[in-house]
Amino acid sequence: MISVPAGVVCITGCSRGLGRAMALAFARLGWQVAGCARTVEAIATLAEDLGNPHIFQAVDVTKDAAMQSFAKTVIDNLGAPNLLVNNAALINANAPLKDISPEEFANILAVNLGGVHHSIRAFLPAMEDAERGVIVNFSSYWGRSTAPEVAPYCSTKWAIEGLTQALSQELPIGLAAVAFNPGIIDTDMLRSCFGETAGDYHSPEEWAKKAVPALANLGPKDNGSSVTAP
Ligand SMILES: NC(=O)c1ccc[n+]([C@@H]2O[C@H](COP(=O)([O-])OP(=O)(O)OC[C@H]3O[C@@H](n4cnc5c(N)ncnc54)[C@H](OP(=O)(O)O)[C@@H]3O)[C@@H](O)[C@H]2O)c1
Repeated sequence: MISVPAGVVCITGCSRGLGRAMALAFARLGWQVAGCARTVEAIATLAEDLGNPHIFQAVDVTKDAAMQSFAKTVIDNLGAPNLLVNNAALINANAPLKDISPEEFANILAVNLGGVHHSIRAFLPAMEDAERGVIVNFSSYWGRSTAPEVAPYCSTKWAIEGLTQALSQELPIGLAAVAFNPGIIDTDMLRSCFGETAGDYHSPEEWAKKAVPALANLGPKDNGSSVTAP
């Protein structure tokens, strides 16, 4: 794999799991990293661990105004991201669709789709001005296949594939939108749906060793593609 020069990466949902592992791995590769999640303490720890010039803020992706303000801080200080990684997501507690409350269903949609929309609204204009950048929307095997008891989550990840393809048809030359299936990794989310067997899979840190260089190498040639992590 040809390595690309380090740039600015912005990652949503970086308080734990894949988001945190990506933040640490990109910083190790020399990238300037910005990120957000809701949990104040975890964000403060990440900010302390990585220091300047990286920017981490406690932001809920479902809040459009908060995302706009976060994006302004990132763009004013680091410039438009070369890579925007829309990673933040929730999964429903395993249950048949008929037993899932409207509140839980709406919350999954708000984070997994609304959050991605807010992030794109906040960052894309500056990326267009810069005439470059890649938007990576985290999908899943469950964005391309299905399983029982995770219908709300599957719905959002199939929607991510469609949203990403439609977005790719709107982008100017030089930019790209990619749907990225990270594979199966032992995180809180996997524990929620797989239980103890999640322990059979790689840790986020192990996963990031191959996934982050693959993300770093995405470019305009990948616009509209559905990619699976190595
Ligand atoms: N792990 C897997 O095997 C797997 C497989 C396929 C796809 N994925 C996808 O990979 C991505 C990361 O998953 P993961 O396994 O790392 O999940 P995770 O361990 O549950 O982490 C999810 C992250 O999203 C953040 N988040 C949730 N709601 C948010 C909100 N409203 N605003 C801002 N941040 C929010 C969480 O932070 P706070 O709680 O602090 O806000 C956390 O940092 C997701 O898109 C997931 O669908 C994972």
